[in-house]
Amino acid sequence: MIFENLLTTVENGILTITINRPDKLNALTRKTVEEIGAAVKNAESNKGVKGIIITGSGQKSFIAGADITEFLGISVEQGKDLARSGQNIFKSIENCSKPVIAAVNGFALGGGCELSMACHLRVASDNAKFGQPEVNLGLIAGYGGTQRLIQYIGKTKAMEFHMTGDMINAEQALNLGLVNYVVPQAQLLPKCIELLEKITSKSPEAVSSVINSINAYFENNVDGFKVETDEFGKCFSTEDFKEGTNAFMEKRKAVFAGK
Ligand code: COA
Repeated sequence: MIFENLLTTVENGILTITINRPDKLNALTRKTVEEIGAAVKNAESNKGVKGIIITGSGQKSFIAGADITEFLGISVEQGKDLARSGQNIFKSIENCSKPVIAAVNGFALGGGCELSMACHLRVASDNAKFGQPEVNLGLIAGYGGTQRLIQYIGKTKAMEFHMTGDMINAEQALNLGLVNYVVPQAQLLPKCIELLEKITSKSPEAVSSVINSINAYFENNVDGFKVETDEFGKCFSTEDFKEGTNAFMEKRKAVFAGK
């Protein structure tokens, strides 16, 4: 697929999506968000893709937020529509059946912080900065940021984060549980690849069941235990389960087909 604001490459089954507006610190236009959604949707059905990395172009910024110039002069209804559309696309990333890692290579502000939180894992470079600075603009987060940050760092810090608009550095993000790892910039993509290679060597069916079950905890009106029960049961019907248990019995490494 050809995109206006993204670069995409597939190497050894890993799709890397790079938001490519470095002169605007990779700020997210509506079109860019739609392109990210389309790239992830395409990856879902592409058998050649086993895992996804989302990162920003350059060494300064992952994403410095939604593109503020697109906010000027929009109505209440247009604002709601923008939020709904962004939320739906970010939910599709969160619910992607293949593992998605945010490689946070600098500023992750506003929509950038929100996009990183919609990914399953976050690895930050040591110069990364996270923040939800929308209050400085008389706004709040609209792509799920008020809902997801609580899931990672709890209500106490989420309130402070959103109400002050302050930025935190990578080490603070690590201590709060917002990111999985902090590494030097040069190690960022290698670390993400290492993680994805480990995850994609496991049963894709089981990994997808992990994603569904853990996400279910945070869904309103969904019984997460019931989802876990169903996903657990489903595993017994897969080729991957047969291969995994056979390999254990035969004392060899399992080779999963993802079926
Ligand atoms: N939307 C649109 N353009 C943005 C942007 C955003 N969210 N963030 C940065 N840019 C643009 C700047 O306008 C500037 O463009 P210009 O060169 O045409 O003037 C360019 O990106 C570089 O940004 P600049 O502000 O000069 O870089 P800096 O290093 O001085 O500051 C930030 C970096 C991230 C602190 C600063 O750009 C910033 O505060 N951005 C907005 C963050 C924000 O509020 N995000 C939430 C939006 S809802």
